[in-house]
Amino acid sequence: MCGIIGYIGHEPNPEIVDILIDGLQRLEYRGYDSAGVAVMTEAGLELQREVGKLSNLVKKLASIELIGRAGIGHTRWATHGRPTEYNAHPHTDPDKQLVVVHNGIIENYLDLKEELAALGHQFASETDTEVIAHLISHYYQGDLKEAVQKTLLRLEGAYSICVMHVKEPNYLVAAKTSSPLLLGKGDGVNFIASDIPAILRHTRDIIYLEDGDMAVVYPDKLELFRIDGTPLERPVQHIDWNLVAAEKMGYDHFMLKEIHEQPAAFSQTLGGRISEGHQRLYLDEINLTPEQLKGLNRIYIVACGTAYYAGMVGKYLIEKFARIPVEVDVASEFRYRNPILDGQTLVIAISQSGETADTLTAMKLAKQQGALTMGVINVKGSAITRVTDGTLYIHAGPEISVASTKAFIAMLAAVNLLALHFAQVREQISLPELTAAMHELRRLPRLMEETLHAVEAPVNALSTVLLRYHHCLYLGRGINFPIALEGALKLKEISYIHAEGYAAGEMKHGPIALIDALMPVIAVVTEGDAYDKVISNLKEVRARDGLVIAVATVGDERIKDVANEVIYVPAVPEWLSPVINVIPLQLLAYYVALRRGYDVDQPRNLAKSVTVE
Ligand code: F6R
Repeated sequence: MCGIIGYIGHEPNPEIVDILIDGLQRLEYRGYDSAGVAVMTEAGLELQREVGKLSNLVKKLASIELIGRAGIGHTRWATHGRPTEYNAHPHTDPDKQLVVVHNGIIENYLDLKEELAALGHQFASETDTEVIAHLISHYYQGDLKEAVQKTLLRLEGAYSICVMHVKEPNYLVAAKTSSPLLLGKGDGVNFIASDIPAILRHTRDIIYLEDGDMAVVYPDKLELFRIDGTPLERPVQHIDWNLVAAEKMGYDHFMLKEIHEQPAAFSQTLGGRISEGHQRLYLDEINLTPEQLKGLNRIYIVACGTAYYAGMVGKYLIEKFARIPVEVDVASEFRYRNPILDGQTLVIAISQSGETADTLTAMKLAKQQGALTMGVINVKGSAITRVTDGTLYIHAGPEISVASTKAFIAMLAAVNLLALHFAQVREQISLPELTAAMHELRRLPRLMEETLHAVEAPVNALSTVLLRYHHCLYLGRGINFPIALEGALKLKEISYIHAEGYAAGEMKHGPIALIDALMPVIAVVTEGDAYDKVISNLKEVRARDGLVIAVATVGDERIKDVANEVIYVPAVPEWLSPVINVIPLQLLAYYVALRRGYDVDQPRNLAKSVTVE
């Protein structure tokens, strides 16, 4: 969390503030409690910070002219210290000779602060970051790189930092451990950023820093070291995302745009991975041999939030097609419960960002314990992809809205591919069955388009109904239980209405006590094995005056007997229904949040990449 940007060029640049602000805008999903920039001008360091969203800082900067060769910027998700201007980054040393921006948490900052206070340092903020700035100045003896190095050796915890010193205007210093940081190679200019979209306007050549790396960034060269000073090289990765994909393109919000991009995201994940005649899958990048796949006796899927729900769908699919037992774990739990892993266990991380700290740590643990590992990841070269044996990229393109939608759909495409691939290799599926399944997968993007077209207007109208309520229950069964959970998560995270997802059959074991006229129930009740059972569950709700909104298969008339409102979606085989059924639930959350007047793309207290544990 928190977004960092750094820029350095040869000449004083009158557009430096625009470059920094543009970068921060594209990082604002990482936090929006405060923002700040520092620019190395002819007159020295200029620092501007403002509490609240980036737009507040932009207003403040409108009347200030800053021209400089180098600058750093930061958008904050508060950890240590309340969101105030004095806690905003960049932070300085006592003599205002250097500035630091930081993403992460320094666990031993109080000890360091005490030590520095004993030496006479006075602090202007409550942050751990200011301690870093003071420590660098403490060690500084004319060589910024060396002072940063000594400082890093004292830090415990997670950090990515970018440092600029008034006496050494020719370079910036960057370093990272745990929190993400990358370098962008431009033409006579170079960049430092927390994430690719921040610098995509200027370069597509990226170097990811690894934990324990430091970089000295000049306008025309990049020097990389380990913290102990050992020089090193890291590969340059060429990023093929285009900038247009990171713009709103006429939509009011990124979330709505990304919902509409889902058919394309799904197709991109299938990509060239299905053979022409639908007879086999090409998933070589997962780096698992047929022998390894045949020898598996268990799969764990670890992930967080929305990605975890994609993992739950994956469990149903892999167990259905490949007949391998699958456990799905919230990543933050997996690593603390001493899981039983060995060389016949495959641990799959699912993550849009590839940077989620809990998922990353879980994968490191799986690797240490000798399990086979792979990632289902969106962001190329991200931290998890550097830990796992293989990666199945979902190719959803940049997802900007904090609430994940198109990455979820692309993850569903990926777990379908994995399930069918595992099934084929383990000879659990006949060729005609496989061909038919892949044919169905290929049809889905068109059916998703149809769904978007059919449901958007009715869901928008229905969103007014939900405005009256403070709570909501989402029900689903089987492969649509995770969709109920995802629908509830979407509603609560952007509209702040309390919502819970439940397996419909569990309702009578407790939550039914909540049902009354004030508790609407949103049920996923499309055609499938448990259809009749869900209908019975809904009758129980109606009998207690609950309002029922159903997502049902087009042509289903019976549902009208139990539902007050019905959203019809196209018919698809049950195992593919999550891909279709989640669409109206995403749109419902979007329109409810919109009508409640909330900032859909940047919900309160959240950040898109959760890089702290
Ligand atoms: C919800 C949401 C989060 C993420 C979770 C994992 O809309 O976006 O729940 O799904 O933080 O993030 P990734 O997929 O980047 O690991």
